[in-house]
Amino acid sequence: MHKVIYDTDPGVDDAMALLFLHRHPDIDLIGITTVFGNASIETTTRNALFLKREWNIPAPVAKGANATIDPSRREIGWPTHVHGEDGLGNIDVPETIDLPLDPCPAYRFIIDTVRANPGEVTLVAVGRMTNLALALREDPEIAGLVKAVVIMGGNFYVHGNVSPVAEANIHGDPEAADIVMTAPWKVAVIGLDVTAVTTMSRSYLGEMAARGDEAVRLLDALSQDYIDFYKHAVEDGMMVHDSCACVYLVAPELFTTMTGPVRVVCGGIADGQTILKPDGRRFPPGEWDGRPSQIVCTGIESEKVIGLIRETLLRV
Ligand code: BDR
Ligand code: CA
Repeated sequence: MHKVIYDTDPGVDDAMALLFLHRHPDIDLIGITTVFGNASIETTTRNALFLKREWNIPAPVAKGANATIDPSRREIGWPTHVHGEDGLGNIDVPETIDLPLDPCPAYRFIIDTVRANPGEVTLVAVGRMTNLALALREDPEIAGLVKAVVIMGGNFYVHGNVSPVAEANIHGDPEAADIVMTAPWKVAVIGLDVTAVTTMSRSYLGEMAARGDEAVRLLDALSQDYIDFYKHAVEDGMMVHDSCACVYLVAPELFTTMTGPVRVVCGGIADGQTILKPDGRRFPPGEWDGRPSQIVCTGIESEKVIGLIRETLLRV
């Protein structure tokens, strides 16, 4: 059984991944931590509480960061054209949800939960890496106490989605991402190389909604505008970025990988670019030296991944 803390900025594809974590039989979702990104921290936290309520998810929700780890970075605004004004596809999420938040901020929730379950907790992070970086800064020893870290973010041998070289979650807080990539823990990086080719069509999701329960019907409803947004890149469908990270956790055999230290460019025209130095390749001394080797996904069996998402979401 995988004990998971889900660090998320819901977010349409975050919502699908949340339902996957909640319904997968080998996953014990023990906490949800929120971060700014697809919308403000107030909105992503409200959305996490909304989905917790609608889907009867027992895990507590802890509110996380509302700004980059480097306070001198300026926020560039929310991607409302992707995830909607409400962050969940313009379905009119209620202004407030009458559920309590965990009393701790996200980084503290992560530290305390990891320390209470040494060697057992996997962090699945699918937004900006700010909460994880804050947790490491506050308590660096947690790197040795976490079982694994799986992130959705970055791009290695394909172009980015917010700049020619950068992906949104990394670009949104590059300094935090570099802290996470270079910490002495095992990170599996699920980036655009694999998520941008893993798409679900509107009709496939609609058929799932017809067979499934209210939870899947809500997911179908909140995904419609997101599918509209993707018409430039996907034939009447959407990229299921964040779910790919959750699938990696339970079915890593569906991915091909490379290993090596990863660094994140901080500043300049390549701000937020993720760069792997493959293990075994020799280069002159450089910024990757002495950093831990991480796992970078470069290939995926997309159809099987989509099938596993379907099967999991239709479990009740
Ligand atoms: C990532 O950015 C967000 O828009 C999505 O939720 C996903 O985590 C994809 O680049
Ligand atoms: Ca996300």
